[in-house]
Formats: sequence, C-alpha cells, structure tokens
Amino acid sequence: GELDKGDFEHFMLKEIYEQPKTIEETFRGRLKPEYSEIVLGGLLNVFPRIMEAERIVIVGCGTSWHAALIGEYMLEEYARVPVEVEYASEFRYRKPVLTEKDAVIFISQSGETADTMAALHLAKEKGALVLGICNVVGSSLSRETDAGVYTHAGVEIGVASTKAFTAQVTVLTMFALKLAKAKGNIGEEEYQELVKELSQIPEKGKQVLENNEAIKQVAEKYKDAVNALYLGRGYLFPVALEGALKLKEISYIHAEGYAAGEMKHGPIALVDDNLPVVVVAPHDAYYEKIVSNIQEVKARKGNVIAIVTEGDKGLKEMANDVIEIPKSHPALAPLLAVLPLQLLAYHIALLRGCNVDQPRNLAKSVTVE
Ligand code: G6P
Repeated sequence: GELDKGDFEHFMLKEIYEQPKTIEETFRGRLKPEYSEIVLGGLLNVFPRIMEAERIVIVGCGTSWHAALIGEYMLEEYARVPVEVEYASEFRYRKPVLTEKDAVIFISQSGETADTMAALHLAKEKGALVLGICNVVGSSLSRETDAGVYTHAGVEIGVASTKAFTAQVTVLTMFALKLAKAKGNIGEEEYQELVKELSQIPEKGKQVLENNEAIKQVAEKYKDAVNALYLGRGYLFPVALEGALKLKEISYIHAEGYAAGEMKHGPIALVDDNLPVVVVAPHDAYYEKIVSNIQEVKARKGNVIAIVTEGDKGLKEMANDVIEIPKSHPALAPLLAVLPLQLLAYHIALLRGCNVDQPRNLAKSVTVE
C-alpha cells in the first residue's frame, strides 16, 4: 500500500523505485494512440487563454522550482513562448510586473506551501491566468487556481522529493509539447519522436534502477566528503541542482549544483583531491563542452563521478566512476539522469547514519513562512 514501506527500508527508497510506475501514471490516458495528441483535461477550458498568453511565469520552491527550470527550457525550445522561473518567496515580495497577458504556473507537490500560495494570491490579484501543477488532490493550490494538471504520483512521504519531481517534469513535458503543437512551432516528426520517447521513459527508468548496487559502491567511496559539486549543462543543469539538493538535504554534506560553464567563475577554486564532482554528461549537443569541464576538474585532481550514456568509452577512462543511463532524447534525459543522483544521495545518507526519510530541520511541506 501507499502508506507502508513494503519491502523497502525507507519511504525514500520505495518512492525512488516507484518512479517507472508513477511516471506512467502521470501520462496514462493523456498520450493518445499513435502519439497523435496530448490530452490535459484540466486545461481544456483555459487553453485558448494559454495560447494567447504573451509570457509564462513558473513559480515554485525547492525541488518544484527545479522542475520549473526544466519546463522553462522545454517551453522556450519547443513552444517558443518566453518563460520566467521564480522562487515563490522572492516573487511574492519583489513587485513583479504581471498583467492579464501572463499565464502563471504554480508547481507544488503538496499544494500547501505558504510562499507558493501567497505568490498565487498575488498573481490572481494582478489578473494573470493562474494554473497549478500539483500532486495532492483537493489541496489549497488545486482549489484556488483557474485550472491545472494533477501529477498523479501518489502519496509522497519521504521529506526529500523524488517521484513528485519526475511527475512534475512529465507534466511539464506534456504541456510544452501540447502547446508547441498547438502553436505550430514543432515539426510533426520531432513531436512524435518526443511523445514516443516519453512513453518509453518508464522502461528506461527501470534499467537505470538496476544500477543500484554499483551506485552504492560509489557512495561508499565518497561518503566522508565534506563538500560536493554537481555540474550539468542545458536540460541537465537543473538536474545538477536537484542532485546537489538531494545530497545536502539528507546527508548534510555541503553540495552545490552549478551550470558546468559557470565552473570557471568560482567553483573551480574549490577543486582538489578531496572534492567529489558529479557531472551529468550524457551524449548530447553539449558533450564536447562537458568533457572539457571534466578535464579541467581532473587536471586539478578532483574526483569525477560521471553520469554517462550507456556505451560511452571516453568518459569511462577519464572519470573516477561512471554510472550509465540509457540513450534518450536530450529533452527527456532529466527523467533518467536524476534517478542515479537520488540513489547516490540516499546511499551516502544511509552510510552516514542519517535519517533519510525525516532529515533534521526540514519539513515535507512548509505551510508557514
Ligand atoms: C519542502 C520539501 C521539499 C519540497 C519543497 C516545496 O522544502 O522538503 O521536498 O520540494 O518544500 O514543496 P511543494 O510541496 O510546494 O512542492
């Protein structure tokens, strides 16, 4: 059942393993046969207004904010709509410019986060169209938005969000592709390829989870780290942020996520033989760039743990450790690449004797400011 751990030692591990199933739940009934159409019933009535929006703003906190960043990249690449991503806590206080021509999407697992709700009230006041992407049915967010999409990931108990994140990214993917198609900004072939690829993510996700033992061994090597750096580019930059957040939340190791191209503007000063650097480096358009980032880390004796596309030989030689993920479309790689990072954080936290399901000082849902 949803409220017990079943065969798993912790809720977090159970929820990580549920993801092939929960991602499927999220797109179930929403991808029409032959990849012909994406149906998001909750948005039906407001879709004409979404089409007219001159800008989309996506608001969230924590892991939901990371999902928003992936949504931004996808919506701009395929739907060609300008997108801003905002922390709810900043947005609500900083006098943002908002009009009826904006569509604002609020992302929240719980639908009860105080800052997100306050940001929603502000956007409503300004006359913007307000939409929700939410996991908890009947939550405050789902009641107060004009329309929205449920993520259907099921109850998430671990304080560190895992399956809710991949469900949010799945919804954002469907939304971006639907809007791209409606606007005529994506070719039919690429659209079909992406939808097909989305439908294959659960299978590929299962393959990633089969690397659990290998990931545990990597965790053994780095469990005593004091700091860790996570790097990625493009769609994998938000995944680097999310990987770092998972590690710091549950293991209390100080971890930073960075856009790999920004490393030279600061984090490279931290690289020495004590620093694990997790680099999300699948085979995509950024591959050569990220390989040179890895060389820069290695030249300074940093320890590189690379998330690579299966069969990658070059990085196997260059990196200290590699974790493979199946080949996928670059825009969908986040759904696969985040899985080993969740497992890595889990195992490191466990080896350090931390309470992975209920980390100190954190709450599942922050309903007061
Ligand atoms: C807390 C949780 C995080 C979550 C964030 C936003 O910090 O510990 O896991 O990402 O709140 O929560 P929400 O329910 O709004 O997605």
